[in-house]
Amino acid sequence: MPAKSTSTATRRTARTPPATATRGARSPAATARRRKPAARSRPRTSPNDAIALLKEDHRSVAAMFLQFDRMKADGSRKEALVAKICQELTVHARVEEEIFYPAARSVLENAALIDEADVEHASAKALIAELRSAKPGDDHYDAKVKVLGEYVRHHVKEEQDELFPKLRRTALDMVVLGERMAARKHELAALFANPAATEDAMRRFIPIV
Ligand SMILES: [Fe+2]
Ligand SMILES: [Fe+2]
Repeated sequence: MPAKSTSTATRRTARTPPATATRGARSPAATARRRKPAARSRPRTSPNDAIALLKEDHRSVAAMFLQFDRMKADGSRKEALVAKICQELTVHARVEEEIFYPAARSVLENAALIDEADVEHASAKALIAELRSAKPGDDHYDAKVKVLGEYVRHHVKEEQDELFPKLRRTALDMVVLGERMAARKHELAALFANPAATEDAMRRFIPIV
């Protein structure tokens, strides 16, 4: 009775769980189908992702503020650390203001978060400008660094908890944006790495709000 036999075989196949299927019997098409979930489970961020790049900067600067908090004595190490914090924050803010915030404004219906970010950048830059002309041991030096750290922590929290998730839900191409930002960051970092250019670079970049 061939009809009954085929029907039994079909039922058996349908009941057989995929995990117990015979390996040798898997067709190339079936293998391709099985690989699809792995492709879908790739992380959604690439190294060039704009938000990943900004978060990496945030982590880096948070670590430096922590390092400052643990420093006991004034001196050249403290001065060098504060100079590095100021430089990294300046480059980061500049990249956001030149590239990331304008792109965000172009896709957000309500740009209030970007307006707030601009004001917060301005407050941070005012303190950075003061620290650039101060030395460890000067009046209120440590307090200025601590308050700068608090400004930055507050600002970073708003970016990461509110702005970035909103932008993730838009059509903004974060990889294309991230590539532009990484290139600009590289240019600015090279400029700041040149001691002869640093003062001029700071003068040109810090006043921009
Ligand atoms: Fe920012
Ligand atoms: Fe930021």
